Amino acid sequence: SIPVIFDTDPGVDDAQAIALIMADPEIEVVGFTTTFGNVDIATATRNALLLSELAGQSIPVAQGAAAPLVKTPHPVPDWIHGADGLGNQQLPPVNGKPVELSAAEFIVAETRRRPGEITLVAVGPLGNLATALQLDPSLVDRVKRVVVMGGSIHKGGNVTPAAEANIFSDPHAAARVLTAKWPLTLVGLDVTHKTVIEPARMARIARAQGALGEVLEKSYAFYAEFYRGALGIDGCCPHDSVAVAWLRHPELFTSQRGYLSVVTEGPAEGLTLFAPEGRKYPDQRWQQGGLVDVCLDLDGVAAVDWMESVL
Ligand code: BDR
Ligand code: CA
Repeated sequence: SIPVIFDTDPGVDDAQAIALIMADPEIEVVGFTTTFGNVDIATATRNALLLSELAGQSIPVAQGAAAPLVKTPHPVPDWIHGADGLGNQQLPPVNGKPVELSAAEFIVAETRRRPGEITLVAVGPLGNLATALQLDPSLVDRVKRVVVMGGSIHKGGNVTPAAEANIFSDPHAAARVLTAKWPLTLVGLDVTHKTVIEPARMARIARAQGALGEVLEKSYAFYAEFYRGALGIDGCCPHDSVAVAWLRHPELFTSQRGYLSVVTEGPAEGLTLFAPEGRKYPDQRWQQGGLVDVCLDLDGVAAVDWMESVL
């Protein structure tokens, strides 16, 4: 099975992805690392603990970034994921506690224990990965791969015309992570917007997921209101689950290799700028850092069918 550390800010679509990786027998969840993003850090950690308890699993949770590395945090949009991150529902109490290590320390420690084995799947703002790189720059040689749900190559943003939410929330962290010399795949809005979980599909998933399914269904209902109002879609894009789909079924995706840079200031703050490998621009300043793979297209129906089959 594939050992994964899942870095997350749960979050409705994060919760779906958490359910997915816990249900998938081909994935070993080494731990959850949490970050601020859709919710504040304490709520993100509470939700990660709760979701794993509801699935009857005890997976280590390491708490991480409470704020962006450099920029002043922008207010959390609680009308998208709810103030509790799960659509403002009555949630059961949590018994477990996070581990002693911070998220960044956990990433460093686990990859030292199992060099070359662990894939980092990051589906929130990227502060934990940036801090881990700072703690131990040789981390780039110890991870198997980094899969980031974030950014947008041709589709435009979802928080501003330029920026996707995870990158916009901490552009300085994203700049470090997306230009580091480690094997990295970017799963951005170009592909996550090819997927939709429709209400009937959600109902089937909820039925199969017991106590966890109830929480998923209620949070989905809240998130779906946002999609209906903002995008006119009947259903939700399971953004963060698409990163998991890439890990398990890369053949459903079309990707391209090249270099990324991140705009950290100004009106395009949070923009992910992509320069394809081999393309000779007269100005080559943005063709530096690590070569990454960016996803540009996806068979979205097949991806969502796969998600449902696991769940
Ligand atoms: C990303 O932003 C968050 O709101 C979602 O959880 C997802 O990770 C989509 O832009
Ligand atoms: Ca997320």
